[in-house]
Amino acid sequence: MSKTVKILFIGDVVGQPGYKITKLLLPGMIEKENIDFVIANGENISEGMGILKRDSDELLSLPINILTGGNHTLDKIQSHKFINESQNILRPLNYPKGVYGSGYGIYPVRDGLKIAVINLIGRVYMKPLDCPFRAFDRIYEKVRAETSIIFIDFHAEATSEKIAFGWYADGKVSAVVGTHTHVQTADSRILPGGTAYITDVGMTGPYDSVIGMKKETSIKRYLYGTPFKHEVAEEDVKFAGVLIEIDAETGKSKSIKRILKPEF
Ligand SMILES: [Fe+2]
Ligand SMILES: [Fe+2]
Repeated sequence: MSKTVKILFIGDVVGQPGYKITKLLLPGMIEKENIDFVIANGENISEGMGILKRDSDELLSLPINILTGGNHTLDKIQSHKFINESQNILRPLNYPKGVYGSGYGIYPVRDGLKIAVINLIGRVYMKPLDCPFRAFDRIYEKVRAETSIIFIDFHAEATSEKIAFGWYADGKVSAVVGTHTHVQTADSRILPGGTAYITDVGMTGPYDSVIGMKKETSIKRYLYGTPFKHEVAEEDVKFAGVLIEIDAETGKSKSIKRILKPEF
């Protein structure tokens, strides 16, 4: 039995274009790379904002094991109940107590191995929610007692907040991957304590756009400072992810590889 666990994390999947390219590329990738577990950020799957049941069902059947989220996860009010009941969809842990859904979970990988997936959200240029660092501290010992393989999606706007959290969690978790900006950063690395890190995994969706949405509308919003209805763009669709190899015994990462298909 291999002592290495291979995790694929897919960056924010935007609308049907994001779903379709994932459906096209994922099965071959899983087979070629011997991937054990797939996590995707799904906050933008339904018309770019939120997660409807039909769309999460499609993603989870690809197969994706877990959907993480962010500021858009609970955008669709009609989804609150099913997100609350779902075992495979996470929203950020540091929302106030009482919010629908859960912020982390522990899931079987293979051969009796388990992975903990934790979803956090930053506070810089975002809504003033609870402290993500302390939310992590509050559950860490409990999670670590169950498994050494711990994966974090840190959904945040500010590069510095994500990097600070990477250092904060280094040596405690297997991976900290950033999401939310929809632009892949070139700083993937293994930190000294064995934590795989990247500031942003990037977007799986249409790049002839402003972070996934039709560019004409986005430009108007900036020109006039008033709302215009966002629509998911369609062209130049790319798949963005990271492939991480983790030592199953220690929980430390051995490698992190960026994926952007097709490249710019
Ligand atoms: Fe997003
Ligand atoms: Fe976001």
